[in-house]
Amino acid sequence: MVQGTVNWNIKLDKEWLQEYVDDWVAFYRKATKEGNVASYIPILAKANPNHLGIAIHGKNGLKICSGDIDIPFTIQSISKVISFMVACMKNGVSYVLDRVDVEPTGEAFNSIMHLEMKSLNKPFNPFVNAGALTVTSMLNGATSSDKLAPLFNLLERMIGYRPSVNQEVFKSEDETSARNRAIGYYLLETGFLESDLEVTLETYFKQCSIEITVDDLARIGLILANDGQDPNNEEEIIPRQIARITKALMLTCGMYDASGKFATYVGIPAKSGVSGGIVAVAPPRVRNAPFPFIEGCGIGVYGPALEDRGNSIAGMKLLKHIASQWDLSIF
Ligand code: DON
Repeated sequence: MVQGTVNWNIKLDKEWLQEYVDDWVAFYRKATKEGNVASYIPILAKANPNHLGIAIHGKNGLKICSGDIDIPFTIQSISKVISFMVACMKNGVSYVLDRVDVEPTGEAFNSIMHLEMKSLNKPFNPFVNAGALTVTSMLNGATSSDKLAPLFNLLERMIGYRPSVNQEVFKSEDETSARNRAIGYYLLETGFLESDLEVTLETYFKQCSIEITVDDLARIGLILANDGQDPNNEEEIIPRQIARITKALMLTCGMYDASGKFATYVGIPAKSGVSGGIVAVAPPRVRNAPFPFIEGCGIGVYGPALEDRGNSIAGMKLLKHIASQWDLSIF
């Protein structure tokens, strides 16, 4: 395990970086033993808790991948980043933020408590389930496939292929998610749901069941790090204002009630998913210090062993180490 601060000035080439990341993945794989795979969506319990993989895509074209990088997994709550951006692109930011706030809750992602406590019943942010269901209900179209089409279109532009829904995971959640149904009925009763409840739930469960890899997450992260532009040709994929609001929400709400610690100890926008994915965004640093990926990078991590807030425990520790070694923090 590499200790202390490394003089990256002489180690910026791929071979050295690959060796360090391999070493760090091997070290933090041990942390998978401290977590548990999700089981409230029954099929997610079949994941291998010892898996840990990472992909890092730099704006300078450098890519570093290590560990279990070929394991497909479902995007889960990371899909809320995509649906939020699509809703803003289709309806306008103010329309969306009139209906969903931008405040962290400090509670679990599927907590109902704040819905009742807050005077306007308005969901706190688009990344807790109440906010995500509200956003999904805003997506254009009367059917689930109509609503999902723009999400697949955006994903295809960002990752280079059209991903598919893992139907087993969709079915497993659709059959067991009483909590999301309860949240959905509350939103219906308080007037925040803009579509049929069952269509909204079907769309939401399917968006969460979209299957991706860490490489796909790194591509998405790099586009956000590049303020919504394709790093290869600077073509706009996501309007800059929407990309920036999304990163702000990822920093303050993306890791749920671990968001404060993640912002403090890692310092970059990130969004987790309950199947063990994390997408992280390291914007360009203005410092001309000799660190890797100074022009910015996107990072995708997969580690299905979760800590008690629903975030990948080894993934978070690995990102904390990399951020400290490479000075990724935006602060
Ligand atoms: O709605 C749910 O409970 C899941 N489909 C997604 C939750 C999730 O990914 C929370 N993130 N850590």
